[in-house]
Amino acid sequence: MHRFSDTRFEKTIKEMELVNTIKELKAKLAEARKIGKKIGLVPTMGALHNGHASLVKRAVSENDVTVVSVFVNPTQFNDKNDLAKYPRTLEADCALLEEVGATYVFAPSVEEMYPEPDSREFSYAPLDTVMEGAFRPGHFNGVCQIVSKLFYAVEPDRAYFGEKDFQQLAIIREMVKDLNLNLEICGCPIVREEDGLALSSRNTRLSAAERVTALNISKTLFASLEYAKEHSLCETKQFVENSIDATEGLRLEYFQIVDGNNLQEVAEWESSDYIVGCITVFCGDVRLIDNIKYKA
Ligand code: PAJ
Repeated sequence: MHRFSDTRFEKTIKEMELVNTIKELKAKLAEARKIGKKIGLVPTMGALHNGHASLVKRAVSENDVTVVSVFVNPTQFNDKNDLAKYPRTLEADCALLEEVGATYVFAPSVEEMYPEPDSREFSYAPLDTVMEGAFRPGHFNGVCQIVSKLFYAVEPDRAYFGEKDFQQLAIIREMVKDLNLNLEICGCPIVREEDGLALSSRNTRLSAAERVTALNISKTLFASLEYAKEHSLCETKQFVENSIDATEGLRLEYFQIVDGNNLQEVAEWESSDYIVGCITVFCGDVRLIDNIKYKA
């Protein structure tokens, strides 16, 4: 990786820089901001794939400076085993980020982000009490802790999040309102493998056989989209649950059909103009999430 020269903010400069401290990052961004540059932020936990790359490409196309954070945030892992097993591939991540045109990779240490334990509590009921919030106690509190710290460190004009984590996106939007932050949250569509499996850093933990089994998750969701045209919401929910239950090697944690605005379950297709089915399934010991829009 190359270091920036004096002309670091000229459009011709493509080299990316790796930054590890908030102080250094703030100094660089202050310079950019002073001359009117727009700053985009893409928060990630690394182990980057094309889903992340799609967010970064969009940020690069809409901003002058794009910061991508790579930080495996301990406070959002309620399962310490999951934290320990989370893939860490900074070198490969930097190569991908340089290719798609990121300006800064911000990869701080845990001590840098949490010099003191973070005692702040974020509560955005009913958004954070259902689905992931119910099955992963404290998860969204940890997400809000780190994302708010990243927002304070970067002060971006825009921040990019994937619809893959549908509930996370809704909660971050709520947090931005709550904290009166002056930035735009940009939601980006789910990127899938050619066969339909939603890209996830956790997919690398699937064995070859599990990878084949996991495909039934997206297959079921797409089949349910067709099924929903001729059946009630209740029947569609049952269709998805039965299909996952019938697949050996998959264990359904939940499937809920919710109003996309408040994430509360809906009973009829007519109940809302924005209806999303959110699913979490264990394939072996790998926890996979996905969702599909029935009405948008
Ligand atoms: P991570 O799982 O690394 O995801 C980073 C961003 O990439 C999230 O906004 C996520 O929704 C998006 N993303 C992941 N897979 C995607 C896919 N297949 N298509 C589109 N977007 C996808 O989400 C987190 O990290 C963390 O919770 C974080 C927000 C960084 C806070 O620690």
